[in-house]
Amino acid sequence: MRILFAASEAYPFASTGGLAGVTGSLPKALADAGHDVSIIMPLYRDIEKVKDFRWISGEFSTSAGEKFGLAESVIPGTGIPAYFVSKDEYFHRPGIYGPDDSSAFDDNAVRFSFFCRAAVAFHENLRKPPDIIHCHDWQTGLIPAYMRNSIRPAVVFTIHNMHFQGNFPPEEYGSTYLPRSLFTMTGLEFFGTFSFIKSGIVYADQITTVSRTYVDEIQKPEFGESLDGLLREHSTDLTGIVNGIDYDAWNPETDGTLAASYKADSISPRRKCRRELMKTHNLNAGSGELIAGVVSRLTRQKGLDLLFPIIGRLAERGVRFVILGTGDEFYMERLSALALEHPGSISVNLRYDETMARRIFSGCDIILMPSRFEPCGLAQMMGMRYGAVPLVNSTGGLADTVIDEQDSGFGFVMNRADPEELNRCILRADVLHRQRNRWTGLVKKVMKQDNSWNSRVPLYEDVYSRAVIARKAR
Ligand code: GLC
Repeated sequence: MRILFAASEAYPFASTGGLAGVTGSLPKALADAGHDVSIIMPLYRDIEKVKDFRWISGEFSTSAGEKFGLAESVIPGTGIPAYFVSKDEYFHRPGIYGPDDSSAFDDNAVRFSFFCRAAVAFHENLRKPPDIIHCHDWQTGLIPAYMRNSIRPAVVFTIHNMHFQGNFPPEEYGSTYLPRSLFTMTGLEFFGTFSFIKSGIVYADQITTVSRTYVDEIQKPEFGESLDGLLREHSTDLTGIVNGIDYDAWNPETDGTLAASYKADSISPRRKCRRELMKTHNLNAGSGELIAGVVSRLTRQKGLDLLFPIIGRLAERGVRFVILGTGDEFYMERLSALALEHPGSISVNLRYDETMARRIFSGCDIILMPSRFEPCGLAQMMGMRYGAVPLVNSTGGLADTVIDEQDSGFGFVMNRADPEELNRCILRADVLHRQRNRWTGLVKKVMKQDNSWNSRVPLYEDVYSRAVIARKAR
């Protein structure tokens, strides 16, 4: 099939988190299975510096008559074409969604509705038109609405996180160029606003989200973010496919940033990575202390505040923490304060740093993800690939990818997002970690789990086929 991905970010061109990890790696898995895949995204500032970047000559315009430029490159190491929509007034500025992690630009409705129109115009210009446009998250949610009357291609909409919806005040509806008649309860209207994500859900031929458990969760009020009712109505067109990770890009056997290379059958060199991590972060630990790693956005979703009441106790007991990530001011301040209070026990690194992430995955004993909700989660899979035993809350993709060691699995699973429950699981890990042979067995088992994209591809192929059938039936 010919598949065009549309997304607001893709690794390595622009990334704020898991979305880019998926849009930057799933295309390759689909291409390896014989599909013809490309991706379109906005041209943010600095993307022009990527390798093989070139401008496409010609003038392009949307159905609303807006002119834009087009450029192309390839997703590095894949040969997959990446196309970029250039419009300086919207995208040539620092930041993707806002000037910093916790604020949004006030013209996001204009910026991303324009991007959606440009993506539609782009696909119409292709010599070989796609069979599928695969849209990701709210920023692309208007594409299904713009395509609602087309005969082809079919449109698939993937929800990476229900929490981010792209809801805007009615005064800005004009920027969508959609008819007033769609601003209703059965269309884009959502509690008086208009909603990009709702548009995606209502008008796509098939909807997917990024794990099986999350499919069930978002149809309940607790996780549905007020769209659970609508999702229940669309449940027959809604599929959960657990994300994968790129097993070539995340491979401790070939990863040049690590202190040593290793694989599931010979994990002893991993000890060197562990020692290196302790040294870099000035952790006061020997081989006996449990080292817990965190690589995460620092937001309420991720549940790191559950650590606050217990981390002092754990540090005294000898548990060590290496935390990497950025996010909300509140978390950054609290974590920095904790690091100051517990030198040698807690290292806090407030930035996004891929090399450091790799070194944490390769050196820590457990990777912590106590998320309150987690559509899929990628760090637990990356950590596992590198031999870090996952400790997760039982929600969304974390529930789908981690089985508790007490249930003949390989990780530690919390029953609820609660500090004492987290404490209980960390203590369990600490006790098991002292039993060398059992722990080694656990690490090997963790590394043998298959979270590569390959196993997920047939599931997407199924969804694409169903989307094509649904589109024909319109
Ligand atoms: C979002 C979700 C995360 C998921 C990622 C990729 O960032 O919060 O759980 O893994 O998207 O789908």
